[in-house]
Order: sequence, then structure tokens, then C-alpha cells
Amino acid sequence: MDPLAQFKAGQRAGWAHFAPLQAGTTVPAARLVQFAGLQSGQRVLDVACGTGVVAVTAARRGAAVTGLDLTPELLAVARENARIAAVDIDWHEGDVEELPFASAAFDAVVSQFGHIFAPRPAVAIGEMVRVLKPGGTLAFSTWPPELLVGRMFTLTAGYMPPPPLPVPSPVLWGDVAVVRERLGDAVRDIVFERPTAQFVALSIAHQREAVEHNAGPIRALVETLSAADPERLARYRREHEALIADYFADNIVHQGYLMTRAVKR
Ligand SMILES: C[S@@+](CC[C@H](N)C(=O)[O-])C[C@H]1O[C@@H](n2cnc3c(N)ncnc32)[C@H](O)[C@@H]1O
Repeated sequence: MDPLAQFKAGQRAGWAHFAPLQAGTTVPAARLVQFAGLQSGQRVLDVACGTGVVAVTAARRGAAVTGLDLTPELLAVARENARIAAVDIDWHEGDVEELPFASAAFDAVVSQFGHIFAPRPAVAIGEMVRVLKPGGTLAFSTWPPELLVGRMFTLTAGYMPPPPLPVPSPVLWGDVAVVRERLGDAVRDIVFERPTAQFVALSIAHQREAVEHNAGPIRALVETLSAADPERLARYRREHEALIADYFADNIVHQGYLMTRAVKR
């Protein structure tokens, strides 16, 4: 398999277990829908939609929503979420780096903690902008490198074997200077907001376990280390828990993030 396909197969396998973490991304989904100003009648694409928390929230507002994700197990949960909420959504298994849609097909393109995992940021954002109509809204939520999730991804990367091809860290999408540079002159009127997501956890170890079981790259690392190097795994877990401790209070893990909104030229 070529390294790009190998990387994406790894992503697809890793994210298959993400569904329980939708408990933490459901409230941010409503914030992103509000921030993007999604309205009834708009054609909206939710990229890397996972279990469809953003897509379903937008559809409940009356938008005509399409959801796309790499991982079939999550799309199965997304379909079930749409059935329960009694909304109709056009689901697609696919890759943000190769969107199966016509240019200018959507009034809004959104992604919550999703497109950041594409290995080629320029290709991913190029596709998201391509399928957006001129004057349409681009909006996404990302993890800044200096806050909990960003620091956790950086910590994890230090323990992982090198990926099959050089991939920029997903947390670069949480740096406003990088976001501006990557959006370039394809868009105007860039606006940022810095909300905090609250993940409920009974203890610091509960949060660590939830992440280990359900978040793609971390799950893969823990599986590898538990077989190959238990001592290194124990060190990683200590460092991860020390990180979480900085953000844990009242049984809530406070996870600051960045929202970006812009208008396509
Ligand atoms: C952290 S989850 C976020 C899911 C959802 N947007 C949410 O907020 O709950 C990351 C998602 O990105 C998807 N993903 C990763 N790489 C992708 C790619 N190249 N194209 C499409 N989806 C991708 C994964 O399958 C997973 O559903």
C-alpha cells in the first residue's frame, strides 16, 4: 500500500471507536452551528462528521445537510442519530482530500475537530473551499497546541513511531497564524472565537481511559505499547494524567478550543 493510503487506513481503523466521545462534542456542535449562522434551507456540508453531531444539529434547524466521513463505523452511528432525531441527511463515506461533490455545491462547509486529521492540509482546505459557493461560509473547530488536547496530541506524537509519510501535526490548525496562512486569499472576513468544551469525568484516570479507548491516534499508541513496552506505556500514562490534572475541576475536564469562520471570496 502506498504511504498515503496506509496513513488513511490507519486513521479509519483508529477512529472506529470514537462514538462514546460524542458526549463531549455534542455541545460544541451546537456552538459551531450557531457560530456558522446555519439556517433553514441552506445546503450544508459537515466534513469529517463522525457520528453526525454537527450535521444533525444543523438539520434540526432545517438546513439541507450532507455529512461525509472516512470511517464507516461512525457513519452507522450517525445514521442512527439522524433516525432518532427524525431528520433526513445525505451521508457519504469519503475523504476530505477528495470530496465527491461539484464545485460551489454548498452554502456552508463546516468541520468540527475533523478536517485537521487530513495529512495534507492544503489539499483538504482546497477541497472544502472548492465545494463552497462564492459568498458561502466556511467554519471549523480545532485544538490549539497550547491547551489540553493540543498538548495531549503533541505528547502522544512523541511516543509514536513515525507515520508512513511526514504529516504536519493536526494541532497546527489551532494556531490562528497558521489558519490565516492556510486560508490565504481564498476567503475574507476571518473571525475567531475561543470557547471551552466541558467533558464530564469521574476522575482524571476516567478521562485518560476514555481518551485511550476512543480517540484514534491514542488508542493505536496504547495498543502498540501495551504489547511492546509496558514501562514506556506507564510513563506515557503518568504524563497524560499530569496534563489532564491541569484542566480537571468539579468532575469536568475543561478543553479550550478555537473556532474559525470565514467567507469564500
Ligand atoms: C475527533 S473525530 C470528530 C467527529 C465529529 N466531527 C465530532 O465533532 O464529533 C475526527 C473525525 O475525523 C474523521 N476523519 C479523519 N480523517 C479524515 C479524512 N481524511 N476525511 C474524512 N474524515 C476524516 C474521522 O473518521 C473522525 O470521524
